[in-house]
Amino acid sequence: MTQFRTFILALIASFGLPWLCLVVVPAVKYQALSPLPYDKEADGMDGYYPPVPINRQGQLVYAREGCVQCHTQMIRPTQLALDGWRKGWGQDQEARPAAPVRSNELRDYLGEPYAFLGVQRSGPDLANYGWRAPERAVVHQMLYAPKSQHDWSNMPAFQHLYVERLAQGPVSSKALKLTGKFAPKAGYEVVPTAEAEALVDYLLSLKKDYPVPAKAAVAATPAP
Ligand code: HEC
Repeated sequence: MTQFRTFILALIASFGLPWLCLVVVPAVKYQALSPLPYDKEADGMDGYYPPVPINRQGQLVYAREGCVQCHTQMIRPTQLALDGWRKGWGQDQEARPAAPVRSNELRDYLGEPYAFLGVQRSGPDLANYGWRAPERAVVHQMLYAPKSQHDWSNMPAFQHLYVERLAQGPVSSKALKLTGKFAPKAGYEVVPTAEAEALVDYLLSLKKDYPVPAKAAVAATPAP
């Protein structure tokens, strides 16, 4: 009997404690968080952090299409205070700006019902995509035909979020400017559906690099 009791206690210790420390405590801590106000004097700005709630409709499309399978939205903290070694992390991978970006904090995800941290990073991290995104039309072209932007791209095309339709009258202002082999048949045009528009709204709103109150002054100073 005592052996059975020890067994049960060991079971609780092995599964219960990690569950408590890794699931329950972080969840309770996260739920207790609320947006922080900026201090006009100390931070030099007004309003609240994080500033805007996320575009929920676009986020649903992002979830449904499985973008999280290849894209993360999280810049991990470094435990060694070596932030300088990853300058430009999460920013444009081709033309890297010199300024470092900060790692993400719990509050960065407050405006979202689910935090889309991602499963693996096959494509670039999108935590700060809104800051580096090209103009809207180009984001649409990229989603419709990723290879039209980079011929080496191995991102899947999301053509089902667009409609190819007979162009009637003048070409729609929303029609994608596709050239070469990506162009639609003569007399046809490719236009985004409402879902594609919502997805792009969401992508353009991804800015998880706002200054954190009380750390704003530090964040604004680029590292040497
Ligand atoms: C199979 C993996 C995969 C999936 C699924 C995927 N992507 Fe990508 N994505 C990539 C790769 C790889 C790149 C880098 C190549 C490129 O830029 O074309 C990329 C690039 C991007 C970029 C450009 C990033 C930058 O820094 O310029 C955006 C935006 C993007 N993806 C959005 C999405 C969205 C939105 C979805 C879901 C609708 C999605 N991706 C689904 C692999 C994927």
